[in-house]
Amino acid sequence: MAIRLNGSISLITQNEEMQRQIRRIDKVVDSATSILLIGETGVGKEIFADYIHHLSDRGQNSFVKISLAAMPAELLESELFGFEKGSFTNADHEKKGLFEIANGGTLFLDDIDDTPLNIQAKLLRVLESHQIRHIGGSTYIPVDVRLICASKVELKALIEKRLFRQDLFYRINTVEIRIPALRERKEDIPLLIDHFVKHYAPKKNLTMHSGTLNLLMDYHWPGNVRELRNVIQRAALFADNEIRISDLPDELMGYSPIDQIVKACSLCFTREGMPYNDVISCVESRLLSEAISQAEGNQSKAAQLLGMKLSTFRDKVQKYNLL
Ligand SMILES: Nc1ncnc2c1ncn2[C@@H]1O[C@H](COP(=O)(O)OP(=O)(O)O)[C@@H](O)[C@H]1O
Ligand SMILES: [Mg+2]
Repeated sequence: MAIRLNGSISLITQNEEMQRQIRRIDKVVDSATSILLIGETGVGKEIFADYIHHLSDRGQNSFVKISLAAMPAELLESELFGFEKGSFTNADHEKKGLFEIANGGTLFLDDIDDTPLNIQAKLLRVLESHQIRHIGGSTYIPVDVRLICASKVELKALIEKRLFRQDLFYRINTVEIRIPALRERKEDIPLLIDHFVKHYAPKKNLTMHSGTLNLLMDYHWPGNVRELRNVIQRAALFADNEIRISDLPDELMGYSPIDQIVKACSLCFTREGMPYNDVISCVESRLLSEAISQAEGNQSKAAQLLGMKLSTFRDKVQKYNLL
């Protein structure tokens, strides 16, 4: 399933749990309910926020995003709530806060788990009263904002450590959407690869070597979809016709390329039920190709890399038709 919205957002998934979460969102999308998105970095929290805003009846109004991790508390406060002229040194003009700018629309508070405690208190006040006051100001300004928050950790654990206010948690957590890590929904990997290959190399018509795909399916993706996107972007740049294992960054390869070749071939054995002799031939031919490419086509150098006599190397190259 690929959902496309406004021609710009593509939220791609065929995972049952992801689809269940999307159906839950669809039910509440038009209300002003606060939504809390929880998931590891790179799982797609921001793309979900885009999806919610653009699908909602506020979709034509403003959509404002801010990361609460990125700046010191004082600056954050003036960003969120605005200030009056003269309220502090350098405040030589009035500045609107993001709550005001998002009025009638949606405010996305990313990294809510990193919010300083004094800002948490101020956020709570705004969410309860639906009005803000500029720093240094005396009048209250009504605001109508749909709040979407994103957290990369369980806020309950932070509450226990007194790093997050329980009352704020209840305010922002009306609907909780948990986005599974990519390693928990491997069936999305081929779809996402296809999407990113088309996006980053629309003219190249690239295919994926089955060993490469096995490796990508097997990797644990600590950086989730963002990491996959970066890997494919880089591979698409370097690959000519086929994306090969050598087009992938080293951290995907384990400690040695040889380990990875062996690993990828053993996957052929277990997943694709390849006969033992074919797996061995596969490992051998891939080792030879890897050595040839590392030696930039120089056969005696490649034979040397493998610790093999040149004549044996040549026989094998001929057997697998490698040059
Ligand atoms: N399901 C998905 N379909 C298509 N692209 C996705 C999907 N999930 C994440 N992405 C892409 O991966 C990158 C990271 O996603 P993002 O929403 O920024 O993650 P997070 O906010 O959870 O760190 C973005 O480029 C985003 O567009
Ligand atoms: Mg993000």
